[in-house]
Amino acid sequence: MNKNLGKILNAPYPFDVVDANRRKAESKFGRDFIIDFGIGDPTDPTPEVVREACREAADETKTLGYPSALGSSVFLEAVRHYMDARFGVALNANDIVPTYGAKYAAFHLPCYYMNPGKGEAALVPNPGYPPYADGTMLAGGIPCFLNMLEENDFEPDFEKIPKDTLKKSKLLFLNSPHSPTGKVYSKEKLKEAVDLCLDNGIILVSDECYADLYFDKPPMSILQIKGAEECALVLNSLSKRSMMTGYAVGFLASKNRELLKPYAAIQRKSIQGVANVVQYAAAAAFLDEKHPEEMRKTYKQRLDTLIPALEKAGCTVRKPEGTFFVWAKVPKKDTPMEFCERLLLEKGINSVPGNLISRKHDGINPGERYARFALVPSIEKTREAAKRIAGN
Ligand SMILES: Cc1ncc(COP(=O)(O)O)c(C=O)c1O
Repeated sequence: MNKNLGKILNAPYPFDVVDANRRKAESKFGRDFIIDFGIGDPTDPTPEVVREACREAADETKTLGYPSALGSSVFLEAVRHYMDARFGVALNANDIVPTYGAKYAAFHLPCYYMNPGKGEAALVPNPGYPPYADGTMLAGGIPCFLNMLEENDFEPDFEKIPKDTLKKSKLLFLNSPHSPTGKVYSKEKLKEAVDLCLDNGIILVSDECYADLYFDKPPMSILQIKGAEECALVLNSLSKRSMMTGYAVGFLASKNRELLKPYAAIQRKSIQGVANVVQYAAAAAFLDEKHPEEMRKTYKQRLDTLIPALEKAGCTVRKPEGTFFVWAKVPKKDTPMEFCERLLLEKGINSVPGNLISRKHDGINPGERYARFALVPSIEKTREAAKRIAGN
């Protein structure tokens, strides 16, 4: 076996612990009693406009043939429209490649840009989406973690990165809005990231999966920042924006074709491309701005319902600026595991202990005082959860 694979396979999967506790609670209370803020999988239906496009594509064509790994014109045009309308970023069709969602692409990207066994590194947010680090390890690289701490306003402190780490770094993963802290990076921070990458020959991968889920100001795309046209790849996905986790579709884009080339070329050689009906559905989703707007209102309502209850239960909560996660500081007397287990086993509320989704780096585990709540239960369930959490 590839020894880099062993490093990933032998690491515990954080959600195994959460799932085991959930099963205990289910046998105590019954399945229906559990209100699940655990895994961030939207429970709201995929918008009708998307389902209709999917049905139409399947019904109206006898055969759609093999999908193009580089994307159908319908898909590419919709992404071009979206990037222009949402961010004012003008892309050409060959600046874009469809992906099986963001996870698949994030995990595989390091293989294209890192040389195994040469001590090359990828800078990865901590806490952060696990495929950034796992994919780096499979590529034979070293994940170097950037702690996301409240004292730094949940932004990475680039000045703290040791010079020798910067020298060996090939990739920087950024994620704004950031899961799980809900931080939206300022324009200045994004510019700092771009400059860091340009100065050190690093490729910047900007995961913008939550770009349309925000509570106040719309987050920027890295491609709006000067210099990003040289060094940045953008990852986007419809999983969360359009409740399309089950469709698994997104895109990778860059204004630097040299950066996009390896991913596009290997995708062409290795797969048949994202299913045609899914590309049609995705195009309909990218062209529709109404449903993300409704979802922003929905998440805001759930946020405003849950936060006061968590505060009553002794948590300190900084309102997220984006994503649909609440990163709540648990009461001092508890570890996150104790807090989450009590909520689950006494009140049937599922959440994720923050220390399970972040690692110890520089002597600190940035998640060791936090619990994560994904605002995916309906407003009725969120109200019920709020009552139980607040204890009345
Ligand atoms: C930061 C981040 N990126 C990507 C993804 C997954 O995207 P997809 O469903 O498109 O694979 C998630 C899902 O939780 C995420 O939190």
